[in-house]
Amino acid sequence: MAWKVLYLVLTCVPFAYYFSTPLPDNIEEPWKVRIVDASLKITSFVALLLENLGLMRYDELFSMLLDMEYTQPISDENITVIDTTLSGIPVRLNLPKRKSEKKRPAVIFIHGGAFVLGSSKHKAYDFLNRWTANKLNAVVVGVDYRLAPQYRFPAALEDVLTAVNFFLQDTILAKYGVDPTRICIAGDSCGGLLATKVTQMIKNNPELKNKIKVQALIYPYLQTVDFHTPSHKEYQSGPFLTRDIITNLGCLYVTMDKLCRKLLKQNKHMPQGSRHLFKLVNWSVFLPEDFKKNHVYTEPTLRQDSTYPELMDSRLSPLLVNDTQLQNLPLTYILTCQHDILRDDGLMYVTRLRNAGVEVAHDHIEDGIHAALSFITSPYYLHLGFRVRDKYIHWLDQNL
Ligand SMILES: *[C@@H]1O[C@H](CO)[C@@H](O)[C@H](O)[C@H]1NC(C)=O
Ligand SMILES: *[C@@H]1O[C@H](CO)[C@@H](O)[C@H](O)[C@H]1NC(C)=O
Ligand SMILES: *[C@@H]1O[C@H](CO)[C@@H](O)[C@H](O)[C@H]1NC(C)=O
Repeated sequence: MAWKVLYLVLTCVPFAYYFSTPLPDNIEEPWKVRIVDASLKITSFVALLLENLGLMRYDELFSMLLDMEYTQPISDENITVIDTTLSGIPVRLNLPKRKSEKKRPAVIFIHGGAFVLGSSKHKAYDFLNRWTANKLNAVVVGVDYRLAPQYRFPAALEDVLTAVNFFLQDTILAKYGVDPTRICIAGDSCGGLLATKVTQMIKNNPELKNKIKVQALIYPYLQTVDFHTPSHKEYQSGPFLTRDIITNLGCLYVTMDKLCRKLLKQNKHMPQGSRHLFKLVNWSVFLPEDFKKNHVYTEPTLRQDSTYPELMDSRLSPLLVNDTQLQNLPLTYILTCQHDILRDDGLMYVTRLRNAGVEVAHDHIEDGIHAALSFITSPYYLHLGFRVRDKYIHWLDQNL
């Protein structure tokens, strides 16, 4: 209770400031977006304040607030919802009740949250996965991988990989009536990174008989190499996701050291010996002309030391694999949003995949903001959230 009062008092003051931040002209429902945007920024402001006072870590306030989004596994008239585990990894299963002659497709959905937050049991993801199951008559598996900072890199990826490998077994697919030729792995934001990397990793696994048919990546986070791409620069103050928030939270996946945040913000985080990797995320080569505008490419500045070797790892930056490794990846859907700090990650992956001969369907939402899919349940409805959801579902309906 005391926390809530403190939170209210602390938030009233800067609200007016954040609320008056200008938005891009084409934003739909600007008042609602302002509220959502200001709420996140205030949470970040208070989280930093509490951290500097030594009261809690930056991420803890976010976690506390998001805990309120938890939902019980409640079945409805269409879907049976079950919380269980796949080889020890917690998952929420959504199983259609509808009678079906044929076997069903399956969607393995990996939620976002900067590796630190989020759960398929939170309201918006629970709703999205239920909706997907009902619309596609599909088995939908929401994977709850371990979160940082308690579990650091590459714990999240290991968990998703374990769950996916386990699910793809004949016996498990048969148990849930899944057609082994119609399986999708999907994810949003850093869940998009986990989906991307797992898809890359299992592509050449000869022991895996059942393959992924399609991958669907929604405003994915795909690289930790260059934090000064045009979208990182243009949208460093939002709307919604900002450079401060993404660095303060995201660093926790790698280290508790606060220096990491500072280096990332300045794009001076890459260790000695990583320069040969820059060509794989060179936005001046991979971004379509329209998105380059007047930006001038400069390489990230190398640090003098080689700490945080994780930053050179393609498990933290799936864009860091070469073209040979991208070949023969499954049919791919990528959705990017214009007003999103992570926009260029998705745009670059579209180009890299197409260069490697992979078939890619790309939807670009001209008035989109990051995390739109998180605003499809009360009290935070955005039309944009429904549009993003419907584009994703429509594509899966046609292609899975
Ligand atoms: C069940 O499915 C029908 C048909 O898609 C839909 O109209 C109805 O709203 C769904 N019920 C729930 C609780 O989602
Ligand atoms: C990035 O691309 C530009 C050409 O657009 C080129 O001049 C530059 O050398 C490249 N840098 C790296 C590190 O690939
Ligand atoms: C791509 O990377 C793989 C794995 O690191 C390596 O074996 C292969 O030689 C590389 N191919 C090219 C063309 O660089």
